[in-house]
Amino acid sequence: MQSRPLLLASLLVLGSFAVAPAQTHAQAPAQAPTQVQSQDATLGQRLFDVMSRNNPEVLPGRRVNHAKGAVYTGSFTASPDAATLSIAPHLQGQPVPMVIRFSLAGGVIAVPDKSVPVHGMAMSFQLPDGRSTDLMCINVPVFVSPTPEEFIAFNEAAQASPPGSPAPTALQRFIGSHPAAQRFLAALKPMPQSFGTESYFAIHAFRLTNAAGETRNIRWRIVPEAGYAARSAEEAVASPPNALFDELEARTKAGPVAFRLEAQIGEAGDPTNDPTIAWPEERRVVNLGRILVTGEVPNTAEAEKPIGFLAGKELPGLARGDDPFFAARDAVYALAFARRH
Ligand code: HEM
Repeated sequence: MQSRPLLLASLLVLGSFAVAPAQTHAQAPAQAPTQVQSQDATLGQRLFDVMSRNNPEVLPGRRVNHAKGAVYTGSFTASPDAATLSIAPHLQGQPVPMVIRFSLAGGVIAVPDKSVPVHGMAMSFQLPDGRSTDLMCINVPVFVSPTPEEFIAFNEAAQASPPGSPAPTALQRFIGSHPAAQRFLAALKPMPQSFGTESYFAIHAFRLTNAAGETRNIRWRIVPEAGYAARSAEEAVASPPNALFDELEARTKAGPVAFRLEAQIGEAGDPTNDPTIAWPEERRVVNLGRILVTGEVPNTAEAEKPIGFLAGKELPGLARGDDPFFAARDAVYALAFARRH
């Protein structure tokens, strides 16, 4: 636990990374953010600016956060239970194609996989009529800060604590006085065997509405059918720089990597506007269907450039909850997408 703040600080402040080979891929999945309605452009700009200061040497075409990643194709087939919760088109049982990007948090593309405990799984469900909806998930069920403002303060504390700063650093003082940040750090897990053997969470509460007009608060979970499997400390230390990305490529060549899409159903009193508070584990969890990750897209470094995921892309029967992060993240992702194009 003591080493995690330092690790996180170094992830946040490290800045430079290598240029990927510039090649084109004709079948790159193209998806631009289309539903951005920034309700707080100023806050979004401040969030984008603080993220950019984490990585002052970000290069054109590269993400300012979750820079190291790989794009996969996939598919989703809803379970019969899904339609009982929502009329959303992708939850009715017809298979839909997916675009999925696995990533490491932080803006450093050359970082070794073993150094970054926060992993992203961002995905787009692509409907036959051209619409789509996204889920942007990380492998932690809670966020580090309860409000976007506090996330700025967290990043500023990290930036004021470069490696070698005398203890207690600004980041250590911040974490010491913010229980939500402590819960986030405590929830980080050892390096997994695979991106395909860990769970991912969209964290914020969403609302599903079914054909009877019943609306429920839910939180999304993506759970590996293979189960959770970690590397030992020795295996993690000995792992090569691209261990997780290479492993997933090999795993998908042997067959699809399967996840369950689950909805944790909120009950009265469960907070929907604070992403740092987990709902009780005894809440009902519904299996909404099966995600298959089928294969890495050729020339993924080029293929990821036109892709821009959004955190709360609504459809009939699927709405964002009242978490203020949705509007803030809309603004940040629009700026980040524009910045790399
Ligand atoms: C205010 C809080 C947050 C800020 C400022 C922020 C900022 C960013 C930025 C700037 C990017 C790069 C986007 C791009 O270039 O397309 C990014 C990517 C990402 N973020 Fe966030 N983020 C926040 C919260 C979250 C949360 C709560 C989650 C998970 C539940 C999350 C998951 C991701 C993922 C998975 C990616 C990678 C997307 C991809 O593969 O293209 N972020 N974030």
